[in-house]
Amino acid sequence: MYINKTKCLNCSLCAQVCPSKIFAVCRNQVTIKSENKDYCMECGDCISVCPQDAIINSNLFSEKMKEDDISLGPEQLLNFMKSRRSIRSYNLTNLSEYEKEYLAKMASLTPRGGHTKSIRNTSIVIIENEELIKNITEYTYEYMYILKKRLSSVWVNIAKAFNSSFRNGLDNTIERIDLILKAKGDNINMLTYDAPNLVILHNEKSSPISKDNLNIMEYQLMLGAEALNLGTCFLGWVSFAMQSFRAKKSYKLKEIYKTLEIPSDRQISGVFSIGQKKGRYRKIKGRGETAILTK
Ligand SMILES: Cc1cc2nc3c(=O)[nH]c(=O)nc-3n(C[C@H](O)[C@H](O)[C@H](O)COP(=O)(O)O)c2cc1C
Repeated sequence: MYINKTKCLNCSLCAQVCPSKIFAVCRNQVTIKSENKDYCMECGDCISVCPQDAIINSNLFSEKMKEDDISLGPEQLLNFMKSRRSIRSYNLTNLSEYEKEYLAKMASLTPRGGHTKSIRNTSIVIIENEELIKNITEYTYEYMYILKKRLSSVWVNIAKAFNSSFRNGLDNTIERIDLILKAKGDNINMLTYDAPNLVILHNEKSSPISKDNLNIMEYQLMLGAEALNLGTCFLGWVSFAMQSFRAKKSYKLKEIYKTLEIPSDRQISGVFSIGQKKGRYRKIKGRGETAILTK
């Protein structure tokens, strides 16, 4: 990182925004303090505010945006968020190249935490193959049988007796599992909803925040899909089944990882269905209020 002194006007905007205080302003001259240089986290804020393009860092790419292109009013955003909903009925078509490219751009614009490339390195798999989606669904059903058995064990029942919120949570989970398995018997797919496409995100599990990176990217992709008028739905059960440590010993899951070219040391989180919406949703659905406490 250095300042191109022939361009710099010494306006000190960089010094005002730098969170790591690496710039010094002395007698109207802006310089980089060598003793603070290591604190630079390459957030790029100084480059972004510099009216002269005078700050150079070859690691950082920056692109000028027009003000008009970035103004999204609060009401417009609220309405967009209100109208987004989980979609569970799709036309049986795959995504177009344009849609995939758009989603790839949305993914690359997702904020990611962590200081090493490996943590930031998230991979996305779009699954269109019907047989593969069927296998993943079948595997998740199998996992649910195992999970139910585990949740009904003597030890879990003892733990339940001592903690009522744990008990309620588990009872609800078991009830839900029972319902999904019963629906399967009636040929109703409440796991992947016969969706034509699934998306799976995975990354290296090397930091406490690596899973957050996946989940944030997942929702950003889902919002991008909404902008394309595509429907999406989180598939929490599938995601849970595919990331279970014990389940990784399952031959079926190993095969799925192999086919998806996901190395076994990667973690999966963020599985969602995506496709063209079958219906036209004319009403916004009610959602619970969320309280904010200010102290
Ligand atoms: C972490 C997470 C996991 C979810 N898992 C499932 C799931 O397995 N199946 C499903 O149909 N919906 C699932 N959902 C969708 C929620 O049911 C849905 O987002 C919620 O009811 C609100 O509805 P909306 O998305 O239409 O606003 C999940 C949502 C989240 C946030």
